[in-house]
Amino acid sequence: MHPDLSEIFPPLGLRVTCGPLELRGIGDAEMLALLDVVREGIHAPERMPFVFPWTDAPAEQLPLNYLQWWARGMATWSREAWALDLCALWEGEVVGVQGVATQDFLTFRFGETGSWLGNRFQGNGIGTAMRRALCTLLFDHLDFEFITSATFSDNPSSLRVSEKLGYRDNGIEWARPRGTRAVTRRLLLLPEDFRRGDPIAVEGVEPLRRFIGLD
Ligand SMILES: CC(C)(COP(=O)(O)OP(=O)(O)OC[C@H]1O[C@@H](n2cnc3c(N)ncnc32)[C@H](O)[C@@H]1OP(=O)(O)O)[C@@H](O)C(=O)NCCC(=O)NCCS
Repeated sequence: MHPDLSEIFPPLGLRVTCGPLELRGIGDAEMLALLDVVREGIHAPERMPFVFPWTDAPAEQLPLNYLQWWARGMATWSREAWALDLCALWEGEVVGVQGVATQDFLTFRFGETGSWLGNRFQGNGIGTAMRRALCTLLFDHLDFEFITSATFSDNPSSLRVSEKLGYRDNGIEWARPRGTRAVTRRLLLLPEDFRRGDPIAVEGVEPLRRFIGLD
């Protein structure tokens, strides 16, 4: 019998559950469902919440772009620079992605989260639940000591999620997502400030810990 692909790439075998929320590795089924959510739209066209404006790609190119972006993350995965992107499901329905990206994690023990939900799933508390579940996983199971977030100053939803979870201000930066100036608010979450919610259940953490060099 062939091994499961998650035995070779453990992020695929990770599963985090917390009430109606599930975060899990992105396999073929999850990717196909996510592409449907991407096609339906993530934000109003006049707004751009992402530093790299990937949602501006023509509609017919978006699925391939997104698939290639994800595949690149697996192809370039290393202990020096890795990202963990998880498919978010709410009551069993695929709704978006919650991830974290790191650099030299074994030295710095920090990572920056990033997330998106399909437009029709926003504003119902799912974004808060998924960031909270991921932060719980990172602090309690993956030995993170700092978690950061970066959000354009005109993104009240993301800023409010950070505020609700206990992030503190960590300065500002500037970006040019569509060739015009955007002010980025940087935020920092420390374990002692984290406003926890319900406990999470996790599967597949031990292989992931070994994979990122913790055990
Ligand atoms: C950012 C995102 C993941 C948040 O998820 P969400 O499910 O919409 O967020 P929640 O419903 O959990 O929380 C949003 C909070 O912002 C508040 N909010 C939303 N719009 C607001 C506005 N215009 N002014 C003030 N507060 C606002 C909501 O009231 C809520 O706070 P509350 O619980 O205190 O009422 C989601 O909106 C999204 O995917 N947006 C598009 C992509 C994106 O911006 N990604 C992040 C890039 S940094």
